[in-house]
Amino acid sequence: MHLEHLLLRNFRKFDEIEFSFGGRTLISGPNGSGKTTIAEACAAALGGKSFRTADLKECIREGADHAFVKATVDLGGLERASFTSGFDRKGQKKLTRDGLTISRRALIGATSFVLCTQEDIEMVSGSPKRRRDFIDRAAMGLDRGYIDIASQYLRFVKQKTALLRHERKSGLKHLNEAAVPLISAIRNRRGAAAQAIIANFEKVARQAGLELSIAIRMPAEEGDEVRKRLHDRMVREAERGCLLYGPHLDDIQMELTGRAAKSSSSGEVAFGAFCLRLAETLLLGDAGWPPLFIADEIFSFMDRDRRDRAMTLVGALPFQTVVTSHRPAGEGSVPGDCTLISLGE
Ligand SMILES: Nc1ncnc2c1ncn2[C@@H]1O[C@H](COP(=O)(O)OP(=O)(O)OP(=O)(O)O)[C@@H](O)[C@H]1O
Ligand SMILES: [Mg+2]
Repeated sequence: MHLEHLLLRNFRKFDEIEFSFGGRTLISGPNGSGKTTIAEACAAALGGKSFRTADLKECIREGADHAFVKATVDLGGLERASFTSGFDRKGQKKLTRDGLTISRRALIGATSFVLCTQEDIEMVSGSPKRRRDFIDRAAMGLDRGYIDIASQYLRFVKQKTALLRHERKSGLKHLNEAAVPLISAIRNRRGAAAQAIIANFEKVARQAGLELSIAIRMPAEEGDEVRKRLHDRMVREAERGCLLYGPHLDDIQMELTGRAAKSSSSGEVAFGAFCLRLAETLLLGDAGWPPLFIADEIFSFMDRDRRDRAMTLVGALPFQTVVTSHRPAGEGSVPGDCTLISLGE
């Protein structure tokens, strides 16, 4: 997928602004100039969500009551499309493709991008939720049908929570039984995604010339084992009125080069997270969804050597890339030979 053009209206600090993108684009500008805002607008237009806030209202420019972003993309072959995302202060949101309303599911099924941000260090050393989200995205990259399995499972969680809250134990057994194949499928797909990520991570590390490896550990039980765990927790779940077991609670752990991620340095974690995003990018490319790779100011924790290696890796990607930096083009590790977007104060 190639992003050709992006329009922002009343999005954060911008009243109205447009950008054209090349195969490699560098967005540079001082603090507060709007670099992250552009990366965020890409995510809003291509994924229907912001990575900075769960509440899109925060993205509406102060004083305005409606924001709008539009991305024009080349989807490969002869297919081009324009995707828009509009939202207001009342919480109304509208996504369109070529002028026709679409669901978020249809949007994320049609586009392909990977966002790499400073917050990704949380993916390695933060709570398991970030790692679950990462692995789920990778699983969806391997098989777009995963999104249906994941949403069916979410429906199960909602229904079961409602039953537990209202102490309606009668339906629980039946509901649990119906969830066994779903839980098994999620574990199975997550396992395959983790394998593919590990293999690509090793490829990236070799390319970077670094002795780096990653281990990803997660619950793997399927079928009868799942049935047993669901059964074993029924009494406690009923007492507490909430779910105590399932893939939405799975503890996914990561080890960087044989050490718990928590014990690694900030620069090591930042580089590890960056390699994970590159691994995700390669996975999407292999799966036939060549993604747009967006890196928002990710080099902060890295020393000069790691920054250089990271920039070389981005430069070698056979996909469209957008990189933001507060450093001017050509300075430090920032390449000068690309489409430049220079933002002012
Ligand atoms: N809803 C909003 N309305 C108006 N301005 C906003 C809104 N939300 C954020 N801003 C402002 O937009 C500016 C740009 O923020 P952004 O995070 O995109 O900058 P940046 O170039 O990424 O900076 P840095 O180099 O510090 O990361 C900030 O000054 C911020 O205060
Ligand atoms: Mg920023």
